[in-house]
Amino acid sequence: MNTTNEKMPSDQSKMPNGEPLASGPSGIDIGTANIVVAQKTGKREITRVQLNAFYTLPYSRMTELALLNEGGMFVKANGKIHALGYQAENFANIVGGIVKRPIAGGILNAKEEDTTFIIQALLNKLIADAPVKNTKICFNIPGSPIDDTVSVFYHEAIIKKYLEQKGYQAEPVNEGLAVVLSELAVSSSNQPYTGIGISLGGGMCNVCFAYLAVPVVTYSIRKGGDYIDAMAAEAVGETPGKVRIIKETQLNLTKTPVGKIETGLHIYYEQLFGILVKSLQTQLGSTDRIPLLRKGVPIVLSGGVAMSPGAKEKFKLALDTVRLPIVISDIILAKQPLHATARGALKNISSVKSGK
Ligand SMILES: Nc1ncnc2c1ncn2[C@@H]1O[C@H](COP(=O)(O)OP(=O)(O)O)[C@@H](O)[C@H]1O
Ligand SMILES: [Mg+2]
Repeated sequence: MNTTNEKMPSDQSKMPNGEPLASGPSGIDIGTANIVVAQKTGKREITRVQLNAFYTLPYSRMTELALLNEGGMFVKANGKIHALGYQAENFANIVGGIVKRPIAGGILNAKEEDTTFIIQALLNKLIADAPVKNTKICFNIPGSPIDDTVSVFYHEAIIKKYLEQKGYQAEPVNEGLAVVLSELAVSSSNQPYTGIGISLGGGMCNVCFAYLAVPVVTYSIRKGGDYIDAMAAEAVGETPGKVRIIKETQLNLTKTPVGKIETGLHIYYEQLFGILVKSLQTQLGSTDRIPLLRKGVPIVLSGGVAMSPGAKEKFKLALDTVRLPIVISDIILAKQPLHATARGALKNISSVKSGK
């Protein structure tokens, strides 16, 4: 159990780099790899990304001063000091360690020590207390995993509780639905907010088939970018960290792979997309809730895993191998794949509900 010896710094109004914390109606995406906060200030929408990670060191005044000097995010508790977000990665790189994550496979990993405390600390570092009691905030929740028996209920309840403690009225939104809300607004060719939103994250893939902003089928698979890294690394005898860097910086899935790491990445992208399209076939095929559609609907891909050049084309090749009960009109890449869920969560409070 955590008994913190420090008041949670929820009353700070600025980030260590001097930027003001998000305050007021916000959309929050709490993922395995990243936490993204989207907020409207005037007409502008601001989106911020932080690594959802921590690195723990024994408390020493020197470490605290070094962190303060760096302007990094950290929190003290129980004789320990936890570097948070990107600062955690900086520290881990310096001392040759690896960061820990409070979320594993898309769901709060409450079996590990300190994780719920860390999520609360990260939220406090990114979001100011509600300026007015019951200001609305919307956060993403995963769909129920189809490949695991774990429940998302605890995860949802903890995050809701922490946001409510900050004075917000916190409402969950399914992650795949948030992607639909963000990317499939009114257009002349398609019905608004109708299509399949897929968030390809680090820890899981979230899917939602929505009809006019109503979620019809939602689910998740507890595999994502981390799975690709781990499996490719294991196959070719490299570390997942090295594989991830190649994936994020030089992989192009439309080109012939160069070397064993790229080859491994191609193979596991293909395998993950194969699992995903088969799940679409079984999940959409086993519901009797599919509405009568006058025309095809788009699939929108978002999340960090969709950012590799050629991910959309590889997904299309996989999709061509299955038969879905819905005609797919198009495959679209989210405009900003890392931000789509948070933007959709923000939209869930601001425009869809008020009919704008
Ligand atoms: N530019 C990129 N190219 C390829 N993969 C990326 C890129 N940026 C991030 N990723 C991968 O995307 C995943 C994180 O995506 P994200 O949507 O933030 O996940 P989560 O929702 O789990 O936090 C990680 O596997 C990361 O390696
Ligand atoms: Mg995500």
